[in-house]
Amino acid sequence: MGCYGIVSMVSRRGKYFALLIVSLMVLAWIATYSGETSKRTVVPPTLLEYALRKYKLKDDVDFLTLLPDLLKPSQKIQCPETSPLLKGSVNLTFDPALKLKDVEMENADVSRGEYEPPNCTARQSVAILIPHRDREKHLLYLLHHLHSFLQRQQLHYAIYIIQQTGDVTFNRAKLLNIGYLEALKDFNWDCFVFHDVDLVPENDHNLYMCDKHPKHLVVGRNATGYKLRYSGYFGGVTALSREQFLKVNGFSNTYWGWGGEDDDLRIRVQLQRMEILRPPADVGRYTMVFHKRDSGNQINKDRMKLLARTPQVWRTDGLNSCSYKTLSIERLPLYVNVTVDVGKPQR
Ligand SMILES: *[C@@H]1O[C@H](CO)[C@@H](O)[C@H](O)[C@H]1NC(C)=O
Ligand SMILES: *[C@@H]1O[C@H](CO)[C@@H](O)[C@H](O)[C@H]1NC(C)=O
Ligand SMILES: *[C@@H]1O[C@H](CO)[C@@H](O)[C@H](O)[C@H]1NC(C)=O
Ligand SMILES: *[C@@H]1O[C@H](CO)[C@@H](O)[C@H](O)[C@H]1NC(C)=O
Repeated sequence: MGCYGIVSMVSRRGKYFALLIVSLMVLAWIATYSGETSKRTVVPPTLLEYALRKYKLKDDVDFLTLLPDLLKPSQKIQCPETSPLLKGSVNLTFDPALKLKDVEMENADVSRGEYEPPNCTARQSVAILIPHRDREKHLLYLLHHLHSFLQRQQLHYAIYIIQQTGDVTFNRAKLLNIGYLEALKDFNWDCFVFHDVDLVPENDHNLYMCDKHPKHLVVGRNATGYKLRYSGYFGGVTALSREQFLKVNGFSNTYWGWGGEDDDLRIRVQLQRMEILRPPADVGRYTMVFHKRDSGNQINKDRMKLLARTPQVWRTDGLNSCSYKTLSIERLPLYVNVTVDVGKPQR
């Protein structure tokens, strides 16, 4: 719902808004006078956002009856800086008999792909974006491990699968731009994690949260002996805040096939004089589930040529020029499936 929702709500429901303001003032007053015991009481704007999202307010809802309930989240304190639920490094299993139903049962608290910690207010709201086509088994393994991983980190998160339709060459970068734009229609996410479907994190100290600079989370994977593929590598899994991604104008839309788009993003980040942060090597470890190169995702032979022109074109090739057709949005229990037509390469 995000900020757009709030604006239209305010104009339509002026008198309820006034009522809410009064109750928030009372709340603030209470918070001031009970401040000694609960220093980290949630501040009113968060409460308002929370309320609008939680109740997905419609015209026929009697706002007054919700007020007592609305006051409850203010009792929730912010989650601790280090989650007590973290386990560190785990041995991952990939059971070929695993079914989607099993993963749904493990995650009864996830609804429409979204989760919020029950006992505290998350420090960040994070959208996980996964480009996808014909990788159902990998997706299942990733969902199985990633949901519990993110819950142990006490995040408010949602998982979006951005599914490319048809058999035109795969365009990972454009799918990720689309994921960013579509996810922001649901909620004003703080942080975006751009995630390959075949990489599974091994250590939950690898926080899926954004920082002052863009983060590259894959230091190593079992397929490379857990070494960085090359200095400057910025692929696999990255985390950029809403503002950081907007500042670089997102990914380029012009990389069709495998490779280059991640280097292009690194160049954009460097052009903005931002740094790239990485977790320690023993934390940034991933298991890459084995696969052959997909048909429809051949090596992009033009990638070196494209990279050479990035400094000239990044302002006009990116989020602000990303055109596509949304074919369907399915809100399934464990993820939101955004299916899109990304068009085709222009030659
Ligand atoms: C994971 O497996 C390795 C090798 O089998 C073993 O040495 C290690 O103790 C296991 N770690 C955990 C956390 O179970
Ligand atoms: C939330 O608190 C309840 C009650 O103390 C506890 O049983 C539950 O395990 C907690 N859940 C999480 C995810 O921390
Ligand atoms: C990495 O681990 C996965 C899962 O156990 C396995 O399928 C894959 O073959 C491994 N890759 C390498 C290069 O060891
Ligand atoms: C997403 O939705 C499309 C259209 O209904 C469907 O073809 C595709 O299999 C779905 N993908 C996933 C991963 O659910």
